[in-house]
Amino acid sequence: MDTLNKDDSGSDQMPKMPEHVAIIMDGNGRWAKQKGKLRTFGHKAGVESVRASVRFARTHKITALTLFAFSSENWKRPQDEVSVLMKLFKLVLTSEVKKLHANGVRLKVVGDLSPFDPKLVQKIKDAEALTQNNTELQLNIAANYGGRWDIVNAAQSLAQQVASGKLNPEDINETSFNANTAFADLPALDLLIRTGGEKRISNFLLWQCAYSEFYFTDTLWPDFNENSFLDAVISFNERQRRFGKISEQVI
Ligand code: IPE
Ligand code: IPE
Ligand code: MG
Repeated sequence: MDTLNKDDSGSDQMPKMPEHVAIIMDGNGRWAKQKGKLRTFGHKAGVESVRASVRFARTHKITALTLFAFSSENWKRPQDEVSVLMKLFKLVLTSEVKKLHANGVRLKVVGDLSPFDPKLVQKIKDAEALTQNNTELQLNIAANYGGRWDIVNAAQSLAQQVASGKLNPEDINETSFNANTAFADLPALDLLIRTGGEKRISNFLLWQCAYSEFYFTDTLWPDFNENSFLDAVISFNERQRRFGKISEQVI
C-alpha cells in the first residue's frame, strides 16, 4: 500500500495522521548506562524527546497524545530514582507550561495523584486550569497510572451510581463503562508506540488498546525524535484495520 499521500504534482506529502497516539517512553536507563552515566541522566535527556513528540503531534494535527511518564509499579524502583523522577516532573511542569499554553496545548495529568506531594498536585491543577480551553492538541501525561487502576476506578464509579439509584445495572455497557474511564472524552486510541525494545504493555492502556495498532521500536526514548515519530505513523498507515471484518469489506 502507498503510505504517503501524493498531491497533484506527484510529490510526497505527510501520511494520514492517527487521531490519538499513546507512547510508552521506555529505555532511559539503558540509554544512560550505554554512555556510562547514571540512569537519571537518561530521564533528564528524555525530556527533549517529550518536546519533540509534542511538537510533532501539534504540527501534524494529531488530536490527542498520551505519554506514559510514571506507572503505578514504578514506585518499586530505588527511592533515589523515584525522587529524581518526581523532581524532574515538577521542574518540567514549571518550565514548560507557559510554552504549551502559548502553543494551544491542553494539558491533563491522568493517574492516581493521591500519593503525590500536594505542591506538585497544585501545580498540575493550575496547569490544567490554565490550558483547559486550548484546542491545538490534547496532551495527556499518565503519572502513577495503571490500566488496571483505570478499569477498577470505572467499576467503582459505576457501582456508586448504582448504589445511589442513579444507574440501573442493566445500563452498564461498553459505552457507559468507557465514559467512566480516565480517557472518556478522547477519540479511540489508534496507535500505541513503545520505545526501548520491550514488547509488552506494562499495565498501560488496557481497556483503550482493544483495537489500537502497536508499534514497537528498539530506539531508546532519549534517541526518539520527530523522524522516529514519522516512522511510526508511516507504519500505522501500512496497516489494514479490519475491526473484525474481512479485508474486502474495509477496502
Ligand atoms: C522509562 O525508562 C522511564 C520510566 C519508566 C520513568 P526506564 O527508566 O524504564 O529505562 P530502562 O527501561 O530501564 O532502560
Ligand atoms: C513502563 O516502563 C512505564 C513507563 C514508561 C512510564 P517500565 O520500564 O516501567 O516497564 P517494565 O517494568 O520494563 O515492564
Ligand atoms: Mg524500562
